[in-house]
Amino acid sequence: TNGRQKTIMSTEISRQQSHSSIQAVRGMNDILPDEIPEWARLEALLRHMASLYGYGEIRLPILEKTELFARSVGHHTDIVEKEMFTFIARNEDSLSLRPEGTAGCVRAGIEHGLLYNQIQRLWYMGPMFRHERPQRGRTRQFHQFGVEVFGVNNAVMDAELIAMNHSIWQQLGLSDLIELQINTLGSLQSRTQYREALVTYLKQHQADLDEDSQRRLETNPLRILDSKNPAMQSLIEKAPSLHDFLDKESQDHFLNLRHTLDKLSIPYTINTRLVRGLDYYCDTVFEFVTTALGAQGTLSAGGRYNGLVAYLGGNDTPAVGFAMGLERVVELLKEKAAQKPAADTKPAVYLVATGRGVMHSLILAQQLRQHLPEITVITDCTDAGFKSQFKRADKSTAAIALVIGDTEAQENTFLLKFLREQDAPQTAHPQEIVCSVVEKALGLVSKHSILSR
Ligand code: HAM
Repeated sequence: TNGRQKTIMSTEISRQQSHSSIQAVRGMNDILPDEIPEWARLEALLRHMASLYGYGEIRLPILEKTELFARSVGHHTDIVEKEMFTFIARNEDSLSLRPEGTAGCVRAGIEHGLLYNQIQRLWYMGPMFRHERPQRGRTRQFHQFGVEVFGVNNAVMDAELIAMNHSIWQQLGLSDLIELQINTLGSLQSRTQYREALVTYLKQHQADLDEDSQRRLETNPLRILDSKNPAMQSLIEKAPSLHDFLDKESQDHFLNLRHTLDKLSIPYTINTRLVRGLDYYCDTVFEFVTTALGAQGTLSAGGRYNGLVAYLGGNDTPAVGFAMGLERVVELLKEKAAQKPAADTKPAVYLVATGRGVMHSLILAQQLRQHLPEITVITDCTDAGFKSQFKRADKSTAAIALVIGDTEAQENTFLLKFLREQDAPQTAHPQEIVCSVVEKALGLVSKHSILSR
């Protein structure tokens, strides 16, 4: 009983303390109704583009075995070494929240026989998790749109992916803010040779390496080239270049990629330092970057990963893909919108009602929704004073309000009020013809270009 008493007491205490509010986990953001239209527009465009390019959607679990990410992203990458949300499940399996989508996509592709002896184009969208230090453009839960192509080992395919991504920027009106950087990592063999040469060079200058690089010298020396530490830059600049170690096939692949991008008039710069933070890449790697968002300016990134499918137990299958960070894209869209004049009002109706009018307003709303399905209909339904209802109507996106008080309810009428136009008269109409009145009112409004979307 003593133990039981203690439990009861501690529940009492925690109940007493429970009045302080609970906040979201650090780095995991809510996306509020205000922001949803931007997200929904972006998501709709991405879905549409993916389907226009012949991709099929795949929905993957958010949790996978930790081993999957360790083996694909790489044991000695930042992501696997320090950024995964990993825990032991009740059956003692080590599980991790997915830090990216490629590994799960390949796992599912092998598991369901989607990759064998065929060309497969897949896309996915959803939350990813990395325990990084939160800052502008970097959160611990973020969202990616990703595409992966399996079964084609041709630089022209790499170029098509890049072109698709480029075209998404164009459709979003963002291309003038975004730059494409490309590089090649060569084949596994040439990279092994290069790695040896790089390690030999770095060991000659071991005293000048910072702590991070000392560690990486053994585990992941190529990532040293990625170091942002200013003290390391001259050392990095003088390091041997991977491009001098490329075999003929990789050289041709890269030339072919460049040639195709030129033919498609897609501008790019070659960044020989671009090595990416995930181990599975070979040959083509690329990033679309902007300077408009501060330090976290990479909007999307990807490349070829011919070895991964076989490495995860499937048949030898060439593959290429990329993923886009949606928070960063939304942020950039906001930046861009801030430079433009305010958005126009939407075709929406707000129903203001009091007393017996409240029920009438709901019936009218139902008729409007049935007959004019494209129009947003917002009912107030509070039966509060007219003043506070009109305040909400003004704050909404609605261009017009329909008003029904007790008198109008009695007479089966409503008042039509234009919310965005000064001095527009308020007019009374019979309830039976609400749909045509609203249609006409919104049509009239559109002549003043308030409705143009
Ligand atoms: P990644 O470069 O690790 O590549 O991530 C892709 C994009 O996700 C980044 O360019 C960035 O926009 C966004 N992102 C990454 N971490 C964060 C974060 N903490 N907060 C906000 N956004 C973030 C991959 O994930 C590969 N799976 C891409 C790929 C697909 N390669 C081949 N296929």
